[in-house]
Amino acid sequence: MSLEDIRNKLAELEKQALGELEQAVKDNIENIRVKYLGKKGELTAILRGMADIAAAERPLIGKLSNDIKTRLEEKISGKFRELKEKSELTALSNLQVDLTLPGDPVGFGHLHPIHQTIEEIVAIFTRLNFAVVEGPEIETDYYNFEALNFPPEHPARDMQDTFFIEDKVLLRTHTSPVQVRVFEKQKPPVKIIVPGKVYRHDADVSHSPMFHQVEGFLVDEGVTFADLKGILTAFIKEMFGEQLSTRFRPSFFPFTEPSAEVDMSCFACKGAGCRVCKQSGWIEILGAGMIDPAVFKHVKYDPEKYTGFAFGMGVERIAMLKYAIDDISLFYENDLRFLKQF
Ligand code: DAH
Repeated sequence: MSLEDIRNKLAELEKQALGELEQAVKDNIENIRVKYLGKKGELTAILRGMADIAAAERPLIGKLSNDIKTRLEEKISGKFRELKEKSELTALSNLQVDLTLPGDPVGFGHLHPIHQTIEEIVAIFTRLNFAVVEGPEIETDYYNFEALNFPPEHPARDMQDTFFIEDKVLLRTHTSPVQVRVFEKQKPPVKIIVPGKVYRHDADVSHSPMFHQVEGFLVDEGVTFADLKGILTAFIKEMFGEQLSTRFRPSFFPFTEPSAEVDMSCFACKGAGCRVCKQSGWIEILGAGMIDPAVFKHVKYDPEKYTGFAFGMGVERIAMLKYAIDDISLFYENDLRFLKQF
């Protein structure tokens, strides 16, 4: 074969390969590559004819055939990509997806009933202009007892089933220590509400080793027991219903004098007597009193100048009454069948 023959053959081969490629479908592209560029393919066959060509001209043929090879390879892979994209698009457009179908519903959570109750209580007092303060759950003997007028060996300490951490460090048994912490930092007037966790070594259907209290207190010049009655009565009406009334019974707390236990008329029977109020018509709801001057002495408030009241209530107890729940542990098991009802 002459040089000219080979040139023509190569040109012919390229033309033919391109023609076939034009018509190709995705699945036979590889066949075309093998047919023209494979080890036993047509390009190789043509190059065998080089035997007759003068050695000086062989590099020229080599370059020519390499160029053709490169061009064809590019075309082949380009065509392959093009056909692949096309078939993917077709597959996608054949897919029957109804974009108007509604999606899977997203479930919304909500606040735990204890937190809902705390928020309700706090909201009522913030409307009455009380500010919210929190205090530490790990407390010292001083704030939990001593500054609240429980002297060492005082029998009232026994009523508090205290979890001690160290000799003088404990889990607070009530939110009242926050009174002292606030009095140390602020001068009267103070008007504060304190929600938080408290701890006592106690467990049955109405007691849990951890539970929640809301403490409230107001100190200023000229605060009287009438203010305490007014605020608490307003709270109970807001929380449980306008038609309910309150009753104050004498009681004892070391940090208040006089002290009272506050009852509200039973919301279930409106005072007639039923199972909820154990036929008495009344439900005990919180402890309260006028802050004992002995507490003021610890924080250098002048008891001649200032008076104040304080009160404390158990959140679980209020929630149990409000929703007729007979076992406190339901609040902590977090069974969704229970929680979803709130
Ligand atoms: N700290 C008391 C308790 O846990 C409740 C209490 C009673 C709080 C009377 C007060 C109060 O502020 O005045 O049993």
